[in-house]
Amino acid sequence: MPILCELHASARDLVQSFGGTVRAANTLQAAAQLLESDPAETLVVIGPDTPVGEVLRFAATLRLIRPAVGVILAREYVDVTLLTHALRAGIREVVPAGDAAALAAACQRSSQISMSLLSTVATEAPQGRDGQIVTVFAAKGGCGKTTLAVNLAVALARQSDRRVCIVDIDLAFGDVAISVQLEPAKTIVNALPMAGHLDETGALSLLTRYRANLFMLLAPTTPGDAEKIPASLIGELLVVLRTIFDYVVVDTPAQFSEHVLIAMDNSAHHVLLTTPDVPALKNLRITLDMLDLLSYPRQIRSVILNRSDSKVGLNLEDVERVVRWPIAAHVPSSREVPISINKGTPLTLANPGHPASQAIARFAQQRLLEPGSAAGAAAGGRPARTKGRRRSG
Ligand SMILES: Nc1ncnc2c1ncn2[C@@H]1O[C@H](COP(=O)(O)OP(=O)(O)O)[C@@H](O)[C@H]1O
Ligand SMILES: [Mg+2]
Repeated sequence: MPILCELHASARDLVQSFGGTVRAANTLQAAAQLLESDPAETLVVIGPDTPVGEVLRFAATLRLIRPAVGVILAREYVDVTLLTHALRAGIREVVPAGDAAALAAACQRSSQISMSLLSTVATEAPQGRDGQIVTVFAAKGGCGKTTLAVNLAVALARQSDRRVCIVDIDLAFGDVAISVQLEPAKTIVNALPMAGHLDETGALSLLTRYRANLFMLLAPTTPGDAEKIPASLIGELLVVLRTIFDYVVVDTPAQFSEHVLIAMDNSAHHVLLTTPDVPALKNLRITLDMLDLLSYPRQIRSVILNRSDSKVGLNLEDVERVVRWPIAAHVPSSREVPISINKGTPLTLANPGHPASQAIARFAQQRLLEPGSAAGAAAGGRPARTKGRRRSG
């Protein structure tokens, strides 16, 4: 339903030309809020009484952040100067105020442009894929979950025909965006109005693009927003995202929240991370027991030892003995890792030949990409046993 921004009663004619089906906003700020709450909206009509300078600034900003949204301006007087400024700001059409037919035609043309812009995005991301969800988890903070999730996603996206999305469900302290110095265009919080009826177009509207074939669904940035996100919304997002992407890599917080369990329910692969220190190993052992208790299939599980070469008195045998699980990959410790994060470029991108990058790339190659791998066998779907868990619990 289009948004109509008009200060005064002269809006009546405009409203009538839509058959009364508009959402009214008294100010451009209110219009911006309506847009914010509805990522699927594609049309804003601005009436003749809104100051032209504000309109131009509004349209110019909107063109950058929501290019699929059309702005149509109704004015008492339309002259060449106004048209030139409007054109520069990205306003789609300027129509004479009170000319309902002209407004209706302009709205129709704008809708067609919006549809074609949205379908370009959609064809760029052909749907109907059967992607694999890979959840990266460690019950102890600082093990390297975010580092691994981001670098794994880069490694998976190395082949240009493959589309990858990272989802940051560390809702309160998510740092995927900051680790690649990305300004979130949208965050998970923008999905709230779509809860219960999220579709591919809605999901695409939430993503921030990082590379040609690597997208990110980022964690909320405003304090307090994390609590607003129900776990069911994470499930809904993941189900839709795997129809758009080949791989969806989920970065998690350091605790078994309901959100993490929903991600695990939907995952084809659980990547568990530890470092060679006693508390991290103890937490990994508890995690493995917990996953067994919840009947998640063992074959979709991989354990990665991060900072594997740290000289801390524990060798590989000690580690495998304590966790009672084979180590699928060893990512060495290197000061290049924090340096790459501080520079905002993941190590696998900045230096693909670095031993840490190579360890992650090898893991991606062997455990996630190989046909018939554990992940491949689970076909990206929800492990059968966990459906039972959800039903009973
Ligand atoms: N292999 C590594 N070598 C050196 N530093 C690392 C390595 N992996 C992670 N780090 C550093 O450890 C810190 C925590 O990593 P992070 O990925 O944020 O952990 P988590 O997401 O599990 O809390 C970061 O400063 C990161 O640069
Ligand atoms: Mg993290």
